[in-house]
Amino acid sequence: MSALHQLVPAPWSFSAGTGGLTLDAGTTLGADPELGGPRRWLARSLGAATGWDLAPAATADAQVRFLLDPKLDAEAYRLEVGDAVVISAGGPAGAFYAAQTLLQLLGPRAFRQSAVGSIWSVPRVSVEDKPRFGYRGTMLDVARHFMPKDNLLRFIDVMAMHKLNVLHLHLTDDQGWRIQINRYPKLTETGAWRRESSLGSWRAGVFDGRPHGGFYTQDDLREIVAFAAERHITVIPEIDVPGHSQAAIAAYPELGEGQAEGAEPVEVWTRWGINETVLAVSETSLEFYRNVLDEVVEIFPSPWISLGGDEVPLTQWQSSTAARGKAESLGLDDVSGLHSWFVGQLALHLKGHGRATSVWDEIGDGGLPDGALVASWRGYEGGIDALRKGYDVVMCPEHKLYLDHRQADGDDEPVPVGFVTTLQAVYEFDPLPGLSAEGWPGRLLGAQANIWTEHLDSPRRVQFAAFPRLSAISEVFWSNPEGRDYDEFLTRLTGAHLARLEAMGVEYRPLSGPAPWQQRPGVEGWKRDYDAEQLVRN
Ligand code: ACM
Repeated sequence: MSALHQLVPAPWSFSAGTGGLTLDAGTTLGADPELGGPRRWLARSLGAATGWDLAPAATADAQVRFLLDPKLDAEAYRLEVGDAVVISAGGPAGAFYAAQTLLQLLGPRAFRQSAVGSIWSVPRVSVEDKPRFGYRGTMLDVARHFMPKDNLLRFIDVMAMHKLNVLHLHLTDDQGWRIQINRYPKLTETGAWRRESSLGSWRAGVFDGRPHGGFYTQDDLREIVAFAAERHITVIPEIDVPGHSQAAIAAYPELGEGQAEGAEPVEVWTRWGINETVLAVSETSLEFYRNVLDEVVEIFPSPWISLGGDEVPLTQWQSSTAARGKAESLGLDDVSGLHSWFVGQLALHLKGHGRATSVWDEIGDGGLPDGALVASWRGYEGGIDALRKGYDVVMCPEHKLYLDHRQADGDDEPVPVGFVTTLQAVYEFDPLPGLSAEGWPGRLLGAQANIWTEHLDSPRRVQFAAFPRLSAISEVFWSNPEGRDYDEFLTRLTGAHLARLEAMGVEYRPLSGPAPWQQRPGVEGWKRDYDAEQLVRN
């Protein structure tokens, strides 16, 4: 691989010729019929950045040509710049990634939304490229802090620029329910907002006294899904059960285990941390969630729907006669088995809709639903165990790929929580350290960076946490792991890629540390040192 290219993520093969090909207002774009989508996307994106109306033309005559090459994998492409830009791709996804590479070759201004210059030259290069993993994910928590739709669409654009292809959207939690469900309007009337929020770590006991909320209508979500699909990104919705459900219980108290016995009603949770409030393991709550999922599958065509399943304290079930009775009637040793039983019931319902279930790895402790995709967040072990048992796995270990965790050890990091997770550390992430990814009964589909937002209360804060670490991670997910060199990555990052992020308006964390306005003096975090025995979030 030449060290001269400035592409992020790095392509698998790159060679540079001499000189460049100048594009102008008369440039035409042509595509084989199967590749019309990427052609239209390029015409719109490059059209906006240049101010040109990039007309379609017959493929053989166009200056930019998209050709289908069935010998290539669906996500693979070749890009040759000579007297024309010739893209060969195995399918629309490969052609789309080639178009993204072409924009990067045109310079940072190609990522602006209106023209700021007039000379556009593509260097004469030859690129051959393909992804390392089929699942290149980012999880975004829009429950703790809502991300307005426009910002989410822009976030998807920035993901696409990095050739990421899965957005796992964490839509429900104790602190908010963000998806409109027609059958149950109170989920958003009551569940989509809270009175106030913990300010910084919940351990500090400080609240901001300010209501927070928001939700996506079903049409908003359809728009988000379609926008992502045009960029070859699958949106996996997460409806988290049976813990992390207090917003739903606040809206419909009959769902709550603690509510069944006439306790004080709960409100949408205002605090961060692990919550003892859980769903009742009852036919009422199962039926409710089956109805919710019926609407979810209508909106999201994703092959996977996430049922979460993380962090479920047993306290309420242990003290509930109904829950203990249910465990006994199911022949379970104790109430701990209710956790995976409940998720399993809903997974069966999803299976009836032809969908697989994605779960956090806790579910593996009590038995996984058939065909589950396991997101291994409590370290690597849950994922390795699932691979041994024949399940699909995505690695997202908290001590490696949690982007809410602080980026450096300094006190000037805004609300510093978690382990120090530097740019270099994420660049050096290995999804299966010391082990081969091949030869397991299960399949390692890829990996995912997780962006939890308890302490990221605005799109600006999400951008600060995500970038440039997500740029480094995209290279782990996409590029050849052989010969990876952090210093060489830094030359591309500082030489071109940060300027692309700036052109897109991404307020990333400067490599030298947070700008004064990115700091949050006085807001307490919760710094941890990595200890494999003590993996408790927040
Ligand atoms: C998680 O971090 N609770 C999945």
